Amino acid sequence: MKIAFARPQLPVEGAVVVGVLEGRELTVAAQRVDRLTSGILARAVANGRFEGKKGQTLTVVAPPGLSISRVVLVGMGKNEGFDAAAAQGFGATAIAQLLGTGDEYAAFLVDGLTGPAFDPAAFGANAAFGALLRAYRFDKYRTKEKPEDKPAMKRVTVMVDHPDSAKTAFKPLEQIAEGVFLTRDLVSEPANVVYPETLSDRAAALTELGIEVEILGEKQMRKLGMGALLGVGQGSERESRIAIMRWMGAKDRNEAPVVLAGKGVTFDSGGISIKPAQGMEDMKWDMGGAGAVIGTMRALAGRQAAANVVGIVGLVENMPSGTAQRPGDVVTSMSGQTIEVINTDAEGRLVLADVLTYAVTRIKPRLIVDLATLTGAIIISLGHDHAGLFANNDELAEKILAAGKAVGEPVWRMPLGESYDSLLKSDIADMKNVGGREGGSITAAQFLQRFVGDVPWAHLDIAGTAWAKKDGTLWAKGATAFGVRLLDRLIADGYEDGAAKPKAESKPPAKSKSKAKAPKSGG
Ligand code: BES
Ligand code: MN
Ligand code: ZN
Repeated sequence: MKIAFARPQLPVEGAVVVGVLEGRELTVAAQRVDRLTSGILARAVANGRFEGKKGQTLTVVAPPGLSISRVVLVGMGKNEGFDAAAAQGFGATAIAQLLGTGDEYAAFLVDGLTGPAFDPAAFGANAAFGALLRAYRFDKYRTKEKPEDKPAMKRVTVMVDHPDSAKTAFKPLEQIAEGVFLTRDLVSEPANVVYPETLSDRAAALTELGIEVEILGEKQMRKLGMGALLGVGQGSERESRIAIMRWMGAKDRNEAPVVLAGKGVTFDSGGISIKPAQGMEDMKWDMGGAGAVIGTMRALAGRQAAANVVGIVGLVENMPSGTAQRPGDVVTSMSGQTIEVINTDAEGRLVLADVLTYAVTRIKPRLIVDLATLTGAIIISLGHDHAGLFANNDELAEKILAAGKAVGEPVWRMPLGESYDSLLKSDIADMKNVGGREGGSITAAQFLQRFVGDVPWAHLDIAGTAWAKKDGTLWAKGATAFGVRLLDRLIADGYEDGAAKPKAESKPPAKSKSKAKAPKSGG
């Protein structure tokens, strides 16, 4: 699906999308279309439950007097300034209505909107971004699907008063969307296609964008003493890998980088502590953390982020076999700390232990954020709408909370503490890999914390948010790529050259002089 920007005009074919404000109030663009169609929009809006509330839609098919196929009215809610999230929601809601109609072209008429600190170019760009994100579909294996059952949309034209500024504002967003799509592609692939070697190949392909990629194989990992990670992979026919992706975009290449670390268990059968058959297929997406890190690197390089960021992902397959590790085995991690493996299904933390040690000792980062589909317990705690956030540093935690809020990938901070940590005591080794069912996400995070020393660190448990069983505003059901937009924003607002020290704004900071404007409403 292509995105274009143009000055407001009335198309002669395809679908037209206009906004309606809460209280059945037609926007300026909707009024214009209404006049050309003998008032059919006003009548449609007056009859029925559509009130213009956010997320509501109403479609008028074959409006009289025009050759277009239909007009989709999208509820915009109250005019509270329309921030980026509102614009993305507008575009996404509109496109969701048009994926089943067979329309090949759509025009979003979004000119004439006003409001406190309203930025028409940003609105247009974000409406396009929302549409793009929602229209993604992973259908490469549906070889028998009839064309008439597939979305036909070829081009969305966003019609705004200043199409050139909207286009400029869209450029970085388009790159972020590419990152999101890469993540969704990787996470959607089955485990017979995406396994450690193939996933590291996909990471290596990012060299095309100027990212330096280094791959570690088992031999190198053995030399480094990565007994925790290697123990997880030892039951699999597939060789374990680590991929390290360096994007050194800051003016000072020697500035300590931000490290983004990801759990990349390409299939988690549970190992000898095998999982029940019911739902085990979901464990193909147990590399969602690694997928998000790879997609974020893609986004950062695509938009030429002026920051030093290193992505590192631990890639293993957790399988039961004659060579698999056993419950009760003791492994020695790269840090030298020994671990009693009570449950081979608590494998993500074992993988991350060595990845984090590598990051701390070899990359010497200014901070680390790790992402992992780490525990079922986080789904019990937070459901599917928030990821769990754990951090040893309040400032970093605040920045992540703010970035998540700004992009609509919310996170909720969870506690850490010595009493939780003590649940990991082992009778035979320095620690065991599980702390019991209660507070399971917290003890998992405590485990990780033992490998980061005093580097500022945050851990996002995305087990509840990496995959959606139903459609959301900005995604179709399936892989969400949760974390990509959050991490991109975190870097943009906090760690890029010229990033303002003060709190996050709703726009990425300008590279040069950004004139102080009226404060934005909303995050
Ligand atoms: N990958 C799972 C966690 C998970 C569960 C992710 C459901 C997404 C959906 C992880 O490796 C795991 O198996 N965790 C165990 C830990 C337990 C053995 C301490 C869990 O959550 O049950
Ligand atoms: Mn597991
Ligand atoms: Zn797992």
